[in-house]
Amino acid sequence: MCVCGGIAAYKTATLVSMLVQRGCGVTVAMTRAARRFVGPTTFQALSGRPVATSMWRGGAAVPHIALAQSCDLIVVAPATANIIGKLAGGIADDLVSTLLLGAGTRLLLAPAMNTRMWQHPAVQRNVAFLRDAGCALIGPDEGWQACRSVGPGRMSEPHAICAEIERLLRSSGSARQNAT
Ligand SMILES: Cc1cc2nc3c(=O)[nH]c(=O)nc-3n(C[C@H](O)[C@H](O)[C@H](O)COP(=O)(O)O)c2cc1C
Repeated sequence: MCVCGGIAAYKTATLVSMLVQRGCGVTVAMTRAARRFVGPTTFQALSGRPVATSMWRGGAAVPHIALAQSCDLIVVAPATANIIGKLAGGIADDLVSTLLLGAGTRLLLAPAMNTRMWQHPAVQRNVAFLRDAGCALIGPDEGWQACRSVGPGRMSEPHAICAEIERLLRSSGSARQNAT
């Protein structure tokens, strides 16, 4: 679970708890901005695992590649305009952006941002590019936003993201079974 720097990071805590209660192993990675919104201690307690915050720490020889390769699915929630732009542009300048490039397309992005940011042509171009490249997206939903406006840009609710994760994991599991 990659957590980026948006208000909706608080909803990701609920999502992590839901996934753990359903038996998923969840490792959380956070951007520097995400840590301004929710502390790593919250995610560490909910996931029961250490939270990854740096490429330059951690037990593995190359932590971002070890993380990217150890999961069945990488979820980015909230996916900020910044991380969407970095991923679409192939930029890898911190742990989260670097591990996303190393993950290929086993990705589910849950964008969350102000309506004007979401509707900006640069963001829409980046989203279209990532969809075409095979990344899955959920949301954003329409509704009340922290910036006190109403429109598209709200992160999808944890239960909806959780259901989509289960669907993607089931379909990748059955694809693997068919291949063997
Ligand atoms: C109060 C506040 C709320 C923010 N909410 C969002 C948001 O919902 N979506 C977004 O794309 N950026 C949001 N930002 C801006 C990001 O935090 C900023 O672009 C940051 O560089 C993102 O870094 P990251 O993608 O590495 O986490 C917000 C910033 C502040 C101060």
